[in-house]
Amino acid sequence: MRIIFDTDSAVFNDDAAALAMLLQRRDVVEILGVTVVAGNHTVPQGSEHMLHLLELTGADDIPLFCGADAPLVNTPARAARQEAQWGPISFKGAFDAGPEVLPPHGGRFAATRPRATHAVSFIIDTIARYPDEVTLVAVGPMTNLALVLRRRPDLAGRIKSLVFMGGNARVPGNVTPAAEFNIWFDPEAAAAVLGSAIPRIVMFGLDITNHAPIRKTQFDTIVAGDTPLTRLMRHDMGPRFERDPGATYYVWDCITAAWLIDPSVVTVSERLPIEVDTTFGPSYGGTRVSEDAPADGRLVDVMLDLDLEKFYRIYEDLLTRPLEGP
Ligand code: RIB
Ligand code: CA
Repeated sequence: MRIIFDTDSAVFNDDAAALAMLLQRRDVVEILGVTVVAGNHTVPQGSEHMLHLLELTGADDIPLFCGADAPLVNTPARAARQEAQWGPISFKGAFDAGPEVLPPHGGRFAATRPRATHAVSFIIDTIARYPDEVTLVAVGPMTNLALVLRRRPDLAGRIKSLVFMGGNARVPGNVTPAAEFNIWFDPEAAAAVLGSAIPRIVMFGLDITNHAPIRKTQFDTIVAGDTPLTRLMRHDMGPRFERDPGATYYVWDCITAAWLIDPSVVTVSERLPIEVDTTFGPSYGGTRVSEDAPADGRLVDVMLDLDLEKFYRIYEDLLTRPLEGP
């Protein structure tokens, strides 16, 4: 399977852990490139975290491309207005980040630098090079993908599939009562991409990711082994478990990665018409199952439940094994 990994990387928790899982199975998944988008963090900071991970895992042969540093329409000022009018937004990611870029764990920047090509151009060129073969794995806001389709709408049908983490079909949001973070950060991009002619779209929303929190017991098992990856995990996730042993981490993007490696991890899914709320109001960025979708309208494969034991096995195995390298 040939993929482009489109990420809003921050510290290790889920984007980087998901990429680390995929890097451990390069026999199954060929990662053509990592593209970074603003979301959890700014593009320059997120890129440094990903370059560090690629170096740490001996995968710096995989190129990284910087992408959109802001959503299509949403802005910090709009988010402030939304909060003032309709209540708090629990996480605003890059909207709250300053321009400073800190070195990742270890205190130095990776030697490999981002490629000069913009992420959007890289995605366009790669789909054109491998028509009908590229799976876009989007684990951040969909700004890069929307810009690809805006520039080259003709390419939508030549993408093999889109597998994304984001949205909430039948459960509440995680940043507002209505919205999940990735979709809330750039709802207009998500609406454009989900409405496009991409042949297959697979959604890993909160409906499924809520089922698989990581608790201290799983964390302790993983970091008991000492590898560069577990040291990074301990550095980024350990302090919270030390402060609060009852804490839970959601590892949203990792469930997407586990399914790419072993689709039998998902036990319940439905094909549903999914719509994104782009009206600036209390439900801005929410997703829901459309009630009045036309019978021949676009359907999304919505992943709803998983084999929890199998997921934990895959997660623990891939994050503890010796690093594969290229
Ligand atoms: O809502 C969870 C999503 O937002 C995850 O992809 C997380 O990494 C953040 O991007
Ligand atoms: Ca993410």
